[in-house]
Amino acid sequence: MADVNVRAAEASPADLAAVARVAHRTWPDAYRDLLPAAVVEAHLAAAYRPEALADRMRLAGGLFLLAEADGQCVAFCQAQRRPAAPGEADLWAIYVLPQWQGRGVGGRLLRAVLAPLADCRMHVALAAGNERAARFYASHGFVPEGGGYRALLAGHPVEMRSMVRAPQARGADTG
Ligand SMILES: CC(C)(COP(=O)(O)OP(=O)(O)OC[C@H]1O[C@@H](n2cnc3c(N)ncnc32)[C@H](O)[C@@H]1OP(=O)(O)O)[C@@H](O)C(=O)NCCC(=O)NCCS
Repeated sequence: MADVNVRAAEASPADLAAVARVAHRTWPDAYRDLLPAAVVEAHLAAAYRPEALADRMRLAGGLFLLAEADGQCVAFCQAQRRPAAPGEADLWAIYVLPQWQGRGVGGRLLRAVLAPLADCRMHVALAAGNERAARFYASHGFVPEGGGYRALLAGHPVEMRSMVRAPQARGADTG
């Protein structure tokens, strides 16, 4: 793997544009067989516009990390402690450019975001059928949680699954 630098994102124009670029390249590829292209486009247009992204980078208890390689942002990850539920946290997003997937970048980024939240039970929601992501989370200690549920993405119903990772004992290293 090329040298990958992980750092916290700032709500600056440079990072906003870099994250949006990764999202716009990764979402259509990741959800090609799972979601209608128009729904993916509508979601990207809303959730990854600069103002929305800047807000996501400033969430209370939040952590928004970028992975950079060859001077470019190749992946990002967002997590947040639940403001009203101490000890619980959500992994909101992790996206690696298609050409960088399977090369250890996602694992590196996930470990970096989980480390400061090791005291928390971590929850992640994924689209039903996103088996690659489910395998990825399982290899980092997440297990399926509860049954599925239906969410709305840009007004389109999407079947979702939840996975959860138990808080880690101090000093534990589960990868
Ligand atoms: C899911 C995702 C974040 C994982 O990131 P990634 O960079 O591909 O993950 P890694 O490379 O760290 O690990 C993936 C696999 O590659 C393998 N791998 C890790 N480093 C490797 C290397 N240097 N060379 C070859 N293979 C490697 C890992 O063993 C792992 O295998 P496993 O899934 O069987 O455990 C990424 O594939 C992605 O962005 N997918 C599309 C978006 C998505 O679905 N996001 C999740 C939404 S809920």
